[in-house]
Amino acid sequence: MKGLILAGGAGTRLRPITYTSAKQLVPVANTPILFYGLQSMVDAGIRDIGIIVGDTADEVRAAVGDGSRWGATITYIPQDEPLGLAHCVLIAQPFLGADEFVMYLGDNLLEQDLSTFVRAFRDDPSRPAAQILLKSVTDPHRFGVAELDSQGDVVRLVEKPSEPASDLALVGVYLFGPLIHEAVRSIQPSPRGELEITDAIQWLVEHHYRVRTHQLEGWWIDTGKLTPLLEANRLLLERIESRVEGHVDAESTIDGRVVLEPGASVVRSRIRGPVTIASGTRIVDSYIGPYTAIGIDCTVVHSEVEHSVLLERVSITNVPRLQDSLIGRDAVVTRTQSRPKALRLMVGDHCQIDVE
Ligand code: DAU
Repeated sequence: MKGLILAGGAGTRLRPITYTSAKQLVPVANTPILFYGLQSMVDAGIRDIGIIVGDTADEVRAAVGDGSRWGATITYIPQDEPLGLAHCVLIAQPFLGADEFVMYLGDNLLEQDLSTFVRAFRDDPSRPAAQILLKSVTDPHRFGVAELDSQGDVVRLVEKPSEPASDLALVGVYLFGPLIHEAVRSIQPSPRGELEITDAIQWLVEHHYRVRTHQLEGWWIDTGKLTPLLEANRLLLERIESRVEGHVDAESTIDGRVVLEPGASVVRSRIRGPVTIASGTRIVDSYIGPYTAIGIDCTVVHSEVEHSVLLERVSITNVPRLQDSLIGRDAVVTRTQSRPKALRLMVGDHCQIDVE
């Protein structure tokens, strides 16, 4: 079985972060989102993995390399334009051949590992053409939605319906046999101009091929927006185990589960986990509260930060309280004493600032 990870696309909903970075590489709990999917594939025994890359190809290649870190072999498949998830299958056909494969959307995060789904698909004696994962959600119109009959078989799949027939969303992990190639060649672009994988699976249903469904038990997050991204960060930090390898001075306290990487330092501060702080970062006269992930080479001085993600080289100074925030690379947030008292901002396109 092969793996296909989708790491192209536009990432408009996470701007401005995604102006300079792939949305699949935004870190949660200090690890790029994409790495969780990759690790999950390898844990399920899949080592021959194709990655679809778009405009951010160089950055994805630099981060993932040849895959040897995971014991995997990576084949990069360039996509000139984000023409849809089914288009990704279309261009990956030479790589996939006639093999069964798992398709994983690079911005999705799942609590459960893939092994269970892979085994269920492989062991099904009816040799399904596809297997989809479904999860009951409160906002199904944002996803592909499945309508099932009383036996649990798929009646219809619709991409982002304005009037959803059920609350069952399609999760971004799919298993396919080779029939999907005929399906992706047979469908037409949707109103949003994309070749939808949802329509390709609907094509299989209409042609009476078997589409297996599997209801997901654990949490699942499509991280494409700020709130779900912070939620994913929170859920993943729940799982960390303490590892304090950086320097903590005698006037600081560390409570709960905290990762402090070698080369990080905490001076006259309080850290309340779950928190992860990467190497080269300095926390001075500050409080870092639960569900915060701080990237490498940041400085936090005379400030309080909670439930936030700070990317690399961020500087936070004299900020009484920062929470529910995502701060991009090299950003500087500071409070000065200079008069007149005012907000002084240099803000990039598509930023979002909530002032008290
Ligand atoms: O997250 C689950 C949802 O993912 C499903 O419920 C929907 O049925 C499915 O269509 C998809 O919807 P999204 O609108 O959220 O997909 P998005 O455009 O965010 O793309 C998902 C991933 O695939 C993302 O990592 C970018 C990548 N991608 C996307 C497109 C359209 C590509 O690599 N190439 C593409 O052409």
